[in-house]
Amino acid sequence: MILVIAIDGPAAAGKGTLARRLAAALALPYLDTGLLYRAVGRRLLDQAVDPRDAVLAEAAARALRPEDLHRTDLRGPAADMAASEVAAIPAVRAALLDWQRDFAREAGAVLDGRDIGTVVFPEAQIKLFVTAALEERARRRLAELHGRGVAAVFEQVETELRMRDTQDSGRSTAPLKPAADAILLDTTHLDAEAAFAQAMEVVGQRIAE
Ligand code: DC
Repeated sequence: MILVIAIDGPAAAGKGTLARRLAAALALPYLDTGLLYRAVGRRLLDQAVDPRDAVLAEAAARALRPEDLHRTDLRGPAADMAASEVAAIPAVRAALLDWQRDFAREAGAVLDGRDIGTVVFPEAQIKLFVTAALEERARRRLAELHGRGVAAVFEQVETELRMRDTQDSGRSTAPLKPAADAILLDTTHLDAEAAFAQAMEVVGQRIAE
């Protein structure tokens, strides 16, 4: 049996850190699916066209190559918003679906994103919905930006996260929401270590069942 672990939730809730640690602990491949949408958005920014253009965005999604995910300019306010905008286009999501499913086909995987438990792998054995209060997420994102030497102020980071939350939850195709059978993990008052410990407990229980 191959094991698929779906980790969904809003931006800066700690999904990536948790997913990476779970993957390492369980010797599973890890895919940050946000990178796919970021790489598509980046291609449109490069072409200086509107990321909401459905025809161009679908073409960019179909032309995506694995090396695009390793670009170093996939993060930052413009890339964040462009990713969220292309992610609202149904044809873009459809173009990226097989990529995500193929990734887990051979050996299983830990995948993090917005719709992994609801759309990409509705049959995943373990689904976590990782969330945290907006203010705490903004604090973490700000610290991450400062850590990378990027100038940013709290209010702006919080506003951008709020806009992305609204866009990702409000879209009609594959909106951000917990799967009915997802386990909620609120990391507002948990550090990375505590979140990992709780997630491993869930994984252990599920594997034992
Ligand atoms: O996880 P992230 O912040 O890197 O994702 C960037 C954007 O991509 C996010 O605002 C919404 C979109 N996304 C998505 O719609 N579905 C996914 N599975 C992953 C990301």
